[in-house]
Amino acid sequence: MGEQVLQARDVETDMGFGIPGKSPDLSPVDPRWPEYIEQRRIRITDARPIAGRLSLDREGIELHAHPVTLDDYFDQDAVANVLVPPTLDLIARLSGTPEVFLLETVVRAEPGLKRQRADLAANRVLSYAARAHLDGDETMFRDWAAHLLPATYPARYAAAPFAVYNIWKPIRRVENNPLAFCSAVSFTDADLVDAFSTGLDQSLTQDEYLPEQIRYFHLAHAPGQQWYYFADMLPEEAVVFKQWDSRPDHADRVAHGAFVDPASKPGSPPRQSVELRVIAFFPTSATDTS
Ligand SMILES: [Fe+2]
Repeated sequence: MGEQVLQARDVETDMGFGIPGKSPDLSPVDPRWPEYIEQRRIRITDARPIAGRLSLDREGIELHAHPVTLDDYFDQDAVANVLVPPTLDLIARLSGTPEVFLLETVVRAEPGLKRQRADLAANRVLSYAARAHLDGDETMFRDWAAHLLPATYPARYAAAPFAVYNIWKPIRRVENNPLAFCSAVSFTDADLVDAFSTGLDQSLTQDEYLPEQIRYFHLAHAPGQQWYYFADMLPEEAVVFKQWDSRPDHADRVAHGAFVDPASKPGSPPRQSVELRVIAFFPTSATDTS
């Protein structure tokens, strides 16, 4: 008792899904994309009323307070100096290991914003990822970490258990194009469709890295998939969800995708959000403290 009663705002809407047997290897602007994606109507549960019961180890999704906000999320020094340190602290606390490293930060904004603003030439600004997908596989994340962290990358990390977390945080109150999350326990490998992308991002600076060819996955639609979102997210909040976890008996990955919320008011400010990908390495065994 005493628990605040929240009015759930579940949504029925369309989501793009992969098609079994059809693996794309296309640039983001290739006109053949519609051949590889099918729109399916899904129900997305507003997880606010049950947020306290979701777990990174079971569903792979948790909602957290993340009170650090910035005046300008395109200020890369502010991101690095103000936003990243408490986010790494959060993941160290949630994962239980202090060996956490930032892989990248990405700002998501309305399509075309980067082209309109010359001052964003050196920023990573992407539009919404409006398909049910996973970002990568174990090999890609290990290679990514090895490439990014040469000075701090102990040899044991090449085989150490690890998890990759995505910390997804609104820049302003989310009024449209929210992100939906498919519980890790509600789909299996049989629902995954291989996908590849080359030349994904032309906006990387010299300090950044993405593998030349990214292997990722689309989710094919299947009964029993459980989709969640958190209605009306605020900048002082963050969803933490698993991108990968190599440890057995832990939720390993969460499919996700942006969706059009039919309840969004026409003309509401476009969604802007920031995401940080963080890799956490775990001891290989209980006696391994190196
Ligand atoms: Fe993604």
